[in-house]
Amino acid sequence: MTVQISRSKRLILENTASCLAVACDEGEAGDVFAPGPLSDLDAALGGELRKLATAEKFKGKKGQTLSLTTLGKIPSQRLLLLGVGPRADVLAHDLRALAGRAVKSANGFGCPSLALVAPTSLSTGANAMDGLQAAAEGALLGGYRFDKYLAEDKRTAATLAQIDLVGFEGDDAASEAALARARNTATAVARARDLVNEPAVAMTPTILANVAEGLAKAAAIDITVLGLEECRKENMGLFLAVAQGSAEPPRFIHMAYKPANAKKRIVLVGKGVTFDSGGLSLKPNEGMLDMKVDMAGSAAVISAIAAVAAEKLPIEVHALAACTENMPSGTAYRLGDVLRSKAGKTVEINNTDAEGRLTLADAITYGLALKPDQIFDFATLTGACVVALGPHIAGVMSNNKPLADAWLDAAKAAGEEMWPLPLPERLTDMLRSEVADMRNTGERWGGALTAGLFLKTFVGDTPWVHVDIAGPATADKDAGHTSKGGTGFAVSTILTYLRRIASV
Ligand code: BES
Ligand code: MN
Ligand code: ZN
Repeated sequence: MTVQISRSKRLILENTASCLAVACDEGEAGDVFAPGPLSDLDAALGGELRKLATAEKFKGKKGQTLSLTTLGKIPSQRLLLLGVGPRADVLAHDLRALAGRAVKSANGFGCPSLALVAPTSLSTGANAMDGLQAAAEGALLGGYRFDKYLAEDKRTAATLAQIDLVGFEGDDAASEAALARARNTATAVARARDLVNEPAVAMTPTILANVAEGLAKAAAIDITVLGLEECRKENMGLFLAVAQGSAEPPRFIHMAYKPANAKKRIVLVGKGVTFDSGGLSLKPNEGMLDMKVDMAGSAAVISAIAAVAAEKLPIEVHALAACTENMPSGTAYRLGDVLRSKAGKTVEINNTDAEGRLTLADAITYGLALKPDQIFDFATLTGACVVALGPHIAGVMSNNKPLADAWLDAAKAAGEEMWPLPLPERLTDMLRSEVADMRNTGERWGGALTAGLFLKTFVGDTPWVHVDIAGPATADKDAGHTSKGGTGFAVSTILTYLRRIASV
């Protein structure tokens, strides 16, 4: 990201950026022109702004936009008003999507610079710094593109080089800290997006492990990468069964960030299936098309731990990813195979497309040996979760209510949509096998839950949160601060959550 971002203390009319974007609270009685920055702007424009806003029915409603040229009456050539909704409802994290939209518009206009003005509701008080951080994150991510495989002349170059955030009042140290967090978060989210957006041929288990090694080397992170033989020694029978159908060798990635002053030990497990064809239970073309996304969980944890180390958070963090392809071949694992997990439990395979839970179960068992205070897993695990919650919301399952609540609260502040799902004990019956301790899939209904229940049997009593990101790991179109393709989902919540437990 070459764009520079900083806080500006200038008054609204003193900003000379080529695009001026103003976040507007929905005015009382629909009037956004109560005395304040916007009425100053209106005066400078000779009252034209108010007339236009009235004609266009711009009231500052959430999501409403008004875009105009200023015809040289103020230094900025482009003016953009962006509604944030009623004052009482405005949340700092709303500014992520809003700043993303401002950046997308400014790039669309070909502007080299953008000044984004805070809504009055977020310009002062404790919220101002959260607002500044959210706006900076959204602005930095709003310009994200993955166009490395396009011909030079097909790339729509981002024109923005400088972004100023205006009207967020706070002392310099607090605002610099907020901007540093935003830059670190945006870098980590963009990196996770890149890993997901690479086609599977360019993001094999080996390549992903190399990326992880590069990140570890650049930070204070230890890394161990286990190959096939080492995984055999670790008795990872479930993970290796999935891997045996692929010509690509598996890689088990273990990154460890261990600061001297650690307050807690956290294990983050990410699903790392670099391509999911379904195996012998082969997916139809439609269902396979996007399956390079199936390593999004591992992208999130690998990228997030690098950001944690960069911020020097006083938390010990381990990122684990059992990376493999799931392929059909003469060596592929079969339906009816009975496998022995690292934990010792046997599993009968009744669908080779339910491979994620197998790789995760062995990774979780490996993680529990590290004796963490809490363990999280992130996985594009089930289509059923997308059916249940739609494409934008992750499903959260847990064996520990207070931990799940703390996690969901962090998600809210991070601007990522997550929702709790139950782990109904009686559905465990669906996983019963006649020949093994359990089978790997349940029946048709409740697929997200039976996947969660399968993992739960491997977790034991350690406080655990399972996040099914099958929907939100990718987006089908550009919107707000996200772009079509990988979203880097979960990185922002991981960082928000870890910052919170680091500061108590
Ligand atoms: N990787 C898929 C889940 C998925 C679906 C991720 C859509 C992203 C978008 C997973 O391995 C899978 O195939 N799950 C099966 C489970 C079934 C066989 C019990 C599914 O959801 O159909
Ligand atoms: Mn699958
Ligand atoms: Zn999968």
